[in-house]
Parts: sequence; C-alpha cells; structure tokens
Amino acid sequence: EPPKPLVVRDEPDEIDSDDGKKRVTVFFGTQTGTAEGFAKALADEARARYEKATFKVVDLDDYAADDDEYEEKMKKEAIALFFLATYGDGEPTDNAARFYKWFTEGKEKEVWLSNLQYAVFGLGNRQYEHFNKVAIVVDEVLADQGGKRLVPVGLGDDDQCIEDDFNAWKELVWPELDQLLRDEDDVSGTGTTYTAAIPEYRVVLIDSAEATHLEKSWSLANGHTVHDIQHPCRANVAVRRELHKPASDRSCIHLEFDVSDTGLVYETGDHVGVFSENCIETVEEAERLLGCSSDTCFTIHADKEDGTPLCGGSLAPPFPSPCTLRTALTRYADLLNSPKKAALLALAAHASEPSEAERLRFLASPAGKDEYSQWIVASQRSLLEVMAEFPSAKPPLGVFFAAIAPRLQPRYYSISSSPRMAPNRIHVTCALVYGPTPTGRIHKGVCSTWMKHSVPLEESQECSWAPIFVRQSNFKLPADTTVPIVMIGPGTGLAPFRGFLQERLALKESGTSLGHAILFFGCRNRKMDFIYEDELNNFVEAGALSELVVAFSREGPTKEYVQHKMIQKASELWDIISKGGYLYVCGDAKGMARDVHRVLHTIAQEQGSLDSSKAESMIKSLQMEGRYLRDVW
Ligand code: 2AM
Repeated sequence: EPPKPLVVRDEPDEIDSDDGKKRVTVFFGTQTGTAEGFAKALADEARARYEKATFKVVDLDDYAADDDEYEEKMKKEAIALFFLATYGDGEPTDNAARFYKWFTEGKEKEVWLSNLQYAVFGLGNRQYEHFNKVAIVVDEVLADQGGKRLVPVGLGDDDQCIEDDFNAWKELVWPELDQLLRDEDDVSGTGTTYTAAIPEYRVVLIDSAEATHLEKSWSLANGHTVHDIQHPCRANVAVRRELHKPASDRSCIHLEFDVSDTGLVYETGDHVGVFSENCIETVEEAERLLGCSSDTCFTIHADKEDGTPLCGGSLAPPFPSPCTLRTALTRYADLLNSPKKAALLALAAHASEPSEAERLRFLASPAGKDEYSQWIVASQRSLLEVMAEFPSAKPPLGVFFAAIAPRLQPRYYSISSSPRMAPNRIHVTCALVYGPTPTGRIHKGVCSTWMKHSVPLEESQECSWAPIFVRQSNFKLPADTTVPIVMIGPGTGLAPFRGFLQERLALKESGTSLGHAILFFGCRNRKMDFIYEDELNNFVEAGALSELVVAFSREGPTKEYVQHKMIQKASELWDIISKGGYLYVCGDAKGMARDVHRVLHTIAQEQGSLDSSKAESMIKSLQMEGRYLRDVW
C-alpha cells in the first residue's frame, strides 16, 4: 500500500475546549532543538493517524508559571508524551530545569497522577556517564506517582543514530495510542504507513538592488532588558590573544567581550552563550552548492500569506528577515554537522538525477542503516560534503532552511573572569577545534575558528562582535569565604577557576579572610600549553591561591594527569573534605571528569577506611549537599 500523505490540521490553541476529542499533550525539554523536532514530528504524524484526537506540543517552560500551576495542570492530563534531553553532568535542558526540579525533588511519594497514561523518550549520548538520566528519572517518578507507563522509556543515543532510536520507539507507541484513541469500530488507519511531508518555509525574493538597506541590522540596544537565548545582545570583541606558547602546534584563545552599556550582568562561574558565524569559505561553498548568488535577498515566513501557519504550526520561527543569502548562511545555518536522515529525504525530493535521489533515500532508509552510520556518521561527513556528492540536489531556500540545514546553535563557554575584577568584560578561554576528519576534510570548529580570527577593538574600530547572553550556573564559590576549596581543571577546564581566583583576589584585597584553596591544573607541556601561567603564579603570590599543582602529560616518559597528582595529595584532600570543604571539577566529561570521580572514590575508601559502597554514598551526599560541583562538557 502506498504511503498515505500526511495531512496536518491546525490545532486550536486552548486545550480545555470540550469538543469530545481526546487530548494528548506532547512535552519537550530541548536545548538544540532535536527533542522539539521529534515532539513536533510525532504530533504531526499522530494528527494524521488519529482524527478523533488533538495533539498539543508544549515547551515545558511555557506550560506553567510556577509549581502550583504545574501541579494543577498535570492533574488534568490524561495522555502525555515527554521528549527529554539530558546534558552535561546529567542535567536537564534549560527549558526543562524548572519542571524537573519541581517534579523530582523533595516530593512525598504519593499517588496523584492515576489519571495519566504516559510515555517518555530520552535524548542523550552513551559516551557520557549519566546517559539519559533526565528521561529515566522522570519516567520513574511518573510511575511512582501513579501514572501508567504505556511503553518503556526510549533511550535515544546521539552517539549512534538517534533518529533510528526515535523511529523504533514511535513504532512501540502507535499500537498503544491505537488502543486509546481509536474507537473499536474504527480500524481505518491501522496498518497504514504515513510519510511526513517535508517542512518548508515560505520564501519571498526581493529585488537585490533594495537588499542591503532593507537588511535588519543588529543594534546594540535591542530593546530587551533581559538577555537570554531568545534575546541575545550585541557585544564587541575588546581583546583577543593567543594563550599557547609559540612551540605549541595547537591554539587556545583568550577573548574578552565588552559588555559595558549592554545591561548584561554575570556572576563568577556562569556560562556565556555565543552566536558565532560560519567562516567565509564555508558560506561560499554553500552558495555554490545551492546554486544561488550571495546577494539573493528574501523574506522568510512560517505562515501563509493569509497568516495561517504552515506545517500545522510546527515550523520553528524563522530567522530575522529581510536578509541576504550571505547573511542567512553565515549566521543561521549549521553547515558542518552531519545531515540527519530527514535532511537526506528532503535533499532526495529535490534531486533531479534519479540515481542520486535513490541513493539519498537508501541512506535514510532502514536498509541503509549501516551505510548511513559508516558513510555519514563515522566519516563525519558534513552537510556540505554530502551535498557536494549529490550535485543535482538543489533544494529551494524554504526547504533548505526548514528541513536540511538546522539552525546554527550558540556555543557555551564557562566564563573565565569575575565581575569583581572585570564588571564590563566577559572573558572566554577557548581551545581551537581544528583537525582532519576521516574523509580528509579539515574540520574547523565554527565558534573557535571565529574567535581565533576575530578582530578586537584594540586593533580596529571595525572590530568583530557577536550576539551573546549569559546562562546562570550553580558552579559557585561557597558563600562562606573561609571554607576550604579544591579546584580540578585541566586544559580549558581552568576557565571558571580563573574567575574564582579573580574573585578571591578581589575579596582578599578588600580585607576578607579566605579559606585554603588548591588548584589542580593539567596540560601537555610547560613550554607549550601552560595557559595563564604568570597569572596563576601571581594568584599564589597574592594569597588568592594556596597551592598550585600542575600535571604535565607529555613531558616525561609517562603521562601524568591531574588525578595522579590528587592521589599523591590524598591525605590533604581528605582533610579538606572532612572539614566541610568544597570540590569543583571542570572540563571534559567523558574522560577526565569520570577518571577524577573514580580517584575521589579511591581516596574516600583509603583515607576514610570506607568500603566501596560507603565511599560511593559519601560522594553522593557531597553532591547532594552541593559540595561536589561539576561543570563538564
Ligand atoms: P594528553 O592530551 O596528553 O592525554 C588538558 O587537555 C590535559 O588533560 C592534557 O594534558 C591531556 O593529556 C589531559 N587529559 C587527557 N585525558 C585525560 C583524562 N582522562 N584525565 C585527566 N587528564 C586528561
């Protein structure tokens, strides 16, 4: 049977309308848009399958203004699906943080969701220690509180192909929804396959002679007093310098954003989100592959001319327009990640060469699973590399921006300054991402490359700038300044500790007394990548840092890492922990933070004479008390 086209109906906004239809709420906790995309894709397909039900896709943050409202509204839900991503150290996404805290913390185990039938799909990465923690926890708490679980929690793994995991999970969900949403006599849709329509924005071309002055420009005061991911503010690059010494063959950039007169404020330990630009070579390649000239000017819309939403309202709001293609590709298109299967299908739909269309469809199909994971994922083939292999695929711009190139996401950095020292500056410490991929392409990280080539105000009035915003973190110094602290941060994991030390120095200079502070830093070689060496020595001299311990991994015959140095100082560390001290770890989650965690475990066992499970629960309680904090990626 040929696939039935997907007909999307627009949904009424109000879920409480009593039209006899069964209601399903599809919640999402998303950071880069994948969870949101899955939620919308599932709702689109479900609307086509179940004519007697309504599906509402809801951002968990927009759902309720406070805890009481969450409770009141959740009680009324009968069927709910959750798409929940897990980030960093097992944390929820920003838009799910409030819900997660309310739902999972400090609640009595009581049964209040017995009306609810639910299913949870998680988005995570198996390389990380807390794989899909948020989804797993929410799934359990929903069941504990009386909800009826329709299917086992889906564990999407971004390290492999998360779209496949989503599709497999969806196939488990349909039979359950069939039971709940179809009348007994209504078997019309069962067994039918549905193919999702390819999303497309409406693009209106504008005469390019008018283009340049029409283009919306970024103003400094963008009218918002609060700056967040939706309302970043424009900040100039004031200072840029290389932190590696000339002998190094790698690069690490110290960058300072000028935030005076922007209203942007931050605290020591916060993160800065940076919207950067693709480099010109990448953009030119994209223009060539699309067959469009860079000064093509257009407006882009997620609704029809009469204002009704396209794709049932499931398209993300488009970027600001009118703009030129050059601007759109530079600022808004993710061109260097590997394309998703849905993107391959959209390319296939616009490939004029049948053999190319066929191969693209194969790569996106279940039969092409291994080929996709080899040829695309393992080879780290970028979207542009894939497009170059299929030259007849020339998608229109509305399809390209809606279905092929995801939105370029901001990059987050741990701020490496303290507002006590640099109230008008946000410092960033950024390692350059640069290296060959299996296909021989040189991958250049978008934001680090932009930073490396940025022009600071020190050098030119025509300096570089970026839209930025601050994301608060709980990676904070103890409120009591006399509490001893241990900081562990090799490589750019040093960043937030430079902020901590600036803060402690400022406190010290104003006469505050400080507790003991040890910093474990690690790098390859003193002559190459010992970043901020002089500053760190100055912190020691000035008394802001009691002890600096550095592990050089490529100086001697054997590798020495921060955790080896920690073992050498086990009794001192144990003493600090026993006295109520705080532990901070920042840097790579997959290797370093995991290994450091193991070493802490060993230290607790040996120094505290604890058995393995007592040591683990001791470390757990440190975490619960907020005395073992991790800022890891
Ligand atoms: P390497 O590159 O020589 O292996 C900053 O990146 C420092 O962290 C480098 O010296 C790096 O050493 C080191 N490093 C790499 N993996 C690590 C791990 N699992 N634990 C601790 N340090 C690590």
